[in-house]
Parts: sequence; C-alpha cells; structure tokens
Amino acid sequence: MCGIVAYLGDKEAYPILVNGLKRLEYRGYDSAGVALLHEDKLTIYKCQGKVSDLEAHVGDGPTTGTVGIGHTRWATHGPPNDVNAHPHQSTSGDLALIHNGIIENYASLKEELVHRGHTFLSDTDTEVLVHLIDDIQRSEKVDLAEAVRLALNSVVGAYAIVVLDRKDPDVMVAARKSSPLVIGIGDGEHFAASDATPIVEHTKNVVYLEDGEIAVIDRKKGLKIRNTKNQDKTPFIQELEMHLETLEKGGYDHFMLKEIHEQPRSIRDSMRGRLNLAKGEVVLGGIKDYEQRFVNAKRILIVGCGTSWHAGMVGEYLFEEFARIPVEVEYASEFRYRNPVVGEDDLVIAISQSGETADTMAAMELAKNKGATIIGICNVVGSSIARITHAGSYTHAGPEIGVASTKAFTAQVTLLTLMALMVGQKKGVLSGSSFYRLLNELDAIPDKVQRVLKTEDQIKYIADIYKDASNALYLGRGYSFPVALEGALKLKEISYIHAEGYPAAEMKHGPIALIDEAMPVFVIATKGASYEKVVSNIQEVKARKGKIIAIVTEGDTVVKGIADHVIEIPETPDALVPLLSVVPLQLISYHIAVMRGCNVDQPRNLAKSVTVE
Ligand code: F6R
Repeated sequence: MCGIVAYLGDKEAYPILVNGLKRLEYRGYDSAGVALLHEDKLTIYKCQGKVSDLEAHVGDGPTTGTVGIGHTRWATHGPPNDVNAHPHQSTSGDLALIHNGIIENYASLKEELVHRGHTFLSDTDTEVLVHLIDDIQRSEKVDLAEAVRLALNSVVGAYAIVVLDRKDPDVMVAARKSSPLVIGIGDGEHFAASDATPIVEHTKNVVYLEDGEIAVIDRKKGLKIRNTKNQDKTPFIQELEMHLETLEKGGYDHFMLKEIHEQPRSIRDSMRGRLNLAKGEVVLGGIKDYEQRFVNAKRILIVGCGTSWHAGMVGEYLFEEFARIPVEVEYASEFRYRNPVVGEDDLVIAISQSGETADTMAAMELAKNKGATIIGICNVVGSSIARITHAGSYTHAGPEIGVASTKAFTAQVTLLTLMALMVGQKKGVLSGSSFYRLLNELDAIPDKVQRVLKTEDQIKYIADIYKDASNALYLGRGYSFPVALEGALKLKEISYIHAEGYPAAEMKHGPIALIDEAMPVFVIATKGASYEKVVSNIQEVKARKGKIIAIVTEGDTVVKGIADHVIEIPETPDALVPLLSVVPLQLISYHIAVMRGCNVDQPRNLAKSVTVE
C-alpha cells in the first residue's frame, strides 16, 4: 500500500516521477504528491486524488529539479486529503520525506517532538519521521544519512522511506524495513521505488534493499549501503527480467481485461520447464531440495489472503486427492493471532501474488519461528515473501496491475496442481497412468482457456441483464466451491454488488431464504463427481424463482433445460475445472463493473499490495 518513487541524476525528475507514480498507482490512489529539489529550493506539490489530479494541480507550475521524490497514497492514519498526502516536510522546511508502511510508536514520538517545538500539520503517522530526522540532524550535528539511521533506531513499525535535504541537493537517502524498496542503478542516475515497474524503462540493474538497510545515493559518490547498526553492506546488483510491454495495457481498455486474456500464456509460462510430457515428469527447481519434506509431510498448512487464499483452498483439494496429505487452509490474518499448533513436522505453503502482504508475511514468520518449513508461491520476483521462505516457486504470471487478481489465481492453482501431482507421483499415490493422463490434461489447459475466452460476447450479454442486481449468489461443490468464493469476491470488489460464495449443498441451510426473482445465482455445474447433486441445487433455486447462470461442460443438455443462461467450458478432470470455470466469472464481473461505470482497475478503498495488517 502506498507507492514511492525517487530519482537523482542528470535528467529532469518530474516526468520520471509522474510516470513512475502512474505505474505504482495500483498500490494506492487516494492522494499523490512530489517534492523536487533544485539547487537549494524545495518545491512540493500534493493533493487528494489520483496522479492525474496531481498533474492538473501542478499545471504550469515550476517543476525544475534533477532530484525528487513522489508518492501515491492508500490512507491508514488520517483521511485522504491534501494535507495528509505525502511528501511531508520538516518544520524548518529543509527536509521532505515519503513513506510506505506504518510507524506504530508514532504517538509517543509525536508527543516528544511537539514538546521540542516541532509543528505537526497532518494526521499521519509518517510525519513523525521527518520531524524526528530533522531534530536529530540539528541536535547531533550529523548529515542526513546518519540522522536517518539514528532516527530509524527509535522507530517501531514498517517503512520504506526516501528523504531529501534542501541543504544537500546532491544526496538522497532511502531505507526499508518490512516494506519493499528497490534501488535502480542507471548511467549517472539512480532511482528508488516500491517495485521495479517505474525503474525498468530506465535501467535493468537493481538492488533489492534488505530489511534494516539504508541506501545513501550521492551524485558524486554513487550508491552506498549500510544498515541501521552502521555496518557497511555490499550492494548485490541483479538484472531485471521484466519487460516494458507487460506494464502497458496493450490495446485493452483495462489492465484487468488484458490480464484475463493473458491467462492462456500465463498458465503456460507457469508450467514451462516444469511439466515435461516427453519424460512424463514434473520438475520444480525451486523446491527440488525440499521434495522429500513434501513426500514425508504429515500435514500441510496453506496460508494466504483473499484470492490467494481461494487458490490455497483449491490446493487443499489437490493435495488431499493426489498426495493423500491432510491440508489446512488458513486466513493468514487469523492464523497469526490464534496461537496455532504448528511445528517442525509441518510444511507451510504461503501464497501471495505481490509477495508483500503483511498478514501472510507475519503468518510465515510465526510458523518459521516454530520450526515449520516454509514454501512460497509468489508472483513478484525478489519480493519480501519470496525472500523469507526456505524455498519456493514463482508463478511467472508476469506483472499483475489490475487491483482485482485474475491471472495470478490461475497461475497459483497451476503451480499447486504441479506440486500436488509431483508429490502424489513420488509418494506412489498416483499410478503412472493416472499421473501421465493428468499431466496431459494440464498441458491442454491453456488452449482450453483460450476457448473459454471466446464466450466473451455471450458473457457481455448476460452481464447486461444482471448489471443492476443488488445481490448475487455463487454456488459450487468440491473443486468448484473455492471458485464460487472467488467469483463472488471478483464481483463485489469491482462492481460493489453484494455477492456471496457458498458450497452448493449448504444453500439450503440458510441462503436459500434470500432467493427470489431478483437474485442471480451463478452455479458451477460441470460434469463430474457432484454433477447430479448440483443439478438438484439448481432445481431448488429455480423452484424459488431465482435466476440461474450456470457454467457447464460443453455439450451439456440437462442444465441447459433448466437454467436461464449457460456458459459452456471444455471438458477436463474435476481437479482442473477451476482453471477454466473461473474465467467466465472473471469476465462477468469485469463487464458488469464496466457497465456500472466503475473504475475496474482501481476499485474504491482497495490497493493491490496490502502491506498493513
Ligand atoms: C482480490 C485480491 C486480494 C488479494 C489479497 C492477497 O482480487 O486481489 O484479495 O488476493 O490481498 O494479495 P497477495 O496475493 O498479493 O498476497
């Protein structure tokens, strides 16, 4: 939450910052701001609203300066308004600071700083940082970098910060703890940002700062890294594999639509080099050394949030069916606070698109401290979660920018399927022929997703009929239950229609009371183990005049005869149905939201990367 970007070099900083903020807007978009330093003059622009509002606010105002910082906010402390927008400035006017994270002990620090004569203007926790650094700089007579280091030693919480000092326009200081920060190293220029997306068009050389590290970027001396204990660190420079076109809409109206349509490719990329049909094997390089831990595992715990938690639920069914290992799927936010029974015998799979979700990270730390082995399934390379796992596999879905997760879900489910099949085969639970048949079926999924995408016109037609609904119900059984949850989440988060996902058979234990002619009920009713039972559930809804939109297997005639609308998907084994059935549900939500005039890529109150608990 919150995106930060900074530049120091020989170019004008303002366009680089604004462009960078647009790339980071998925992290928060309730207010934005920049600070530009030219000679000894600090110019700050900030306002409530999106980056485009900031640009309008700047208008023709002066934007000269080859060093600057920029911020896009997702409010935690204090409402989204002009004053609470970053950058924040010291009382002296010398320092400007941007921050992503939360300062937990801000109240006590603030009290002390007010006592020492600092004037606070905003309601934010962030503002204490800039006053604290300024106070230390003056009282200890130290330079900016040392003042930052000393200040961070008295701070409790999470932060990625960048600070400028009007008195020293050739230096920029950045630091991180529990919030991400990447430093880009260009030719005579440096960047800092919450992720690599604002950097990749300028340089491919980056350093991911570790927790407790401070980067001092000096126009003449270049980049130096030390930690809060004042130990020098050698920057580990990595080459980015990100491509610029993956950050553009590529002709689509929204990132979400582009990302839905990318799924044949992203699923294929998640299997590439891992599923080998010729040899009849699954090789997951990232967890190779931990294969035996999987095989011997007495229990698997899966932790995640939101869509990643839904993927984890599919994982539960997969591991239990193919590897016969008991699985528990936990909301990371609940797991971390309920003294869970977890120990050395447990294998924990943490799932996260962003790799920065605070609750997931805390759940992993807890399990790790209790001796469990932690395996990660992450999309963002080099993210915090990826770095604190013992081992893991990246999903290779490519950057997901639309706030509603789509291609990350199918990539996560693809990896869980590969893992479960590999463990099932190694344990001898799956016979050679079943294993090989499932590998073939999985290999065919990307082409089948492509076929599902062809139903989009029909989906638009259905979306138009139900776009004004106030409520919706999503039903599924077995592997389709997590998909029902995911379908409901997609609808509510981008179209603001209240939606609930339910196991189809549970409907009669309560939600059936809600059904009337105004209630659209989306049912996943594909051919498979519970087909007949779900058909009965559909009858129950129809008997109460509910409207049925059913996802069925191609060629189905039974449901077609009962439902109001059917969307056909290709036949595949039950275990792989989620990879197909979720796609029409994503498209339905997308088109309903567009028809309702909602901001699909930036839904209200949400942010892509939830780095606060
Ligand atoms: C839903 C959505 C969120 C995320 C959740 C976890 O569309 O995007 O529910 O799935 O915040 O995020 P990650 O996967 O980044 O840990």
